[in-house]
Amino acid sequence: MPKEMLPVVDKPAIQYVVEEAVNVGLHDLLMITGRNKRALEDHFDRVPSLESTLEGKGDTEKLASVQAASKLGDIHYVRQGDPHGLGHAVLRAKQHVGEEAFAVLLGDDLIDARDELLGTMIDVQAETGGSVIALIEVEPSEISAYGCADVQPIEGESYVRVNRLVEKPSVDEAPSNLALIGRYVLHPAVFEVLERTAPGRGDEIQLTDALQELATGEGEGYGVYGVVFRGRRYDTGDKLSYLKACVQLAIDSEDLGPGLREWLPGFAAGLSK
Ligand code: G1P
Repeated sequence: MPKEMLPVVDKPAIQYVVEEAVNVGLHDLLMITGRNKRALEDHFDRVPSLESTLEGKGDTEKLASVQAASKLGDIHYVRQGDPHGLGHAVLRAKQHVGEEAFAVLLGDDLIDARDELLGTMIDVQAETGGSVIALIEVEPSEISAYGCADVQPIEGESYVRVNRLVEKPSVDEAPSNLALIGRYVLHPAVFEVLERTAPGRGDEIQLTDALQELATGEGEGYGVYGVVFRGRRYDTGDKLSYLKACVQLAIDSEDLGPGLREWLPGFAAGLSK
């Protein structure tokens, strides 16, 4: 099963990501998929046989949740072909995107819907005319799992200017403890840069490397800005983070929350099964 289809409480992880985009008004969605990812397309498609069974049974609640996934937006798909890295995947969107700024959401990063991020990034992109990345503070020892940004404050603004970016630096080389997470709002100038970005770390075409050029070079659409996110983020590619996402989202849900709250403390303390 593709990891994006892992259920988080009652929906696959990818549905949260699509809902996040739709919630800030992005309805034209392009999914860059690959081999073995057909389940994603099926999930966002209609399921006529299931829908008519539920209709026949009068189960309107389940019917609504099955139909919800197929009504989210206008979803297009393109396959990455050979996986040459995140930069290569983003480049596959060039033709679809055209000349407009666009958002990139990585399928294994979940941003809690109660915390604001993408809308702010879109506003910062519109204001600056450059590209915008999302940053979190991590323990210095964790930085080598992420792209890392050297930033400086901008007077009077809540976002920062990005001076330099390094993909997955060693702890010693890292310019800060600010890590890139899987949300970007990019100026289309990134495509032309990606086209000539040589394979970098892991022999892959790195989006971070293209953004480093946009941060340091000069030209239309250049300049990279960062929004530091302090809300809840879950990495479904990490087992512990995935489990935390399930618990945190379930505990606050109306139907599952009360039962889980009652049971969890005793279970965690070893007092109940
Ligand atoms: C990618 C990016 C990295 C970023 C990370 C966030 O890495 O290359 O800069 O910090 O996503 O999840 P990946 O996790 O795909 O190796």
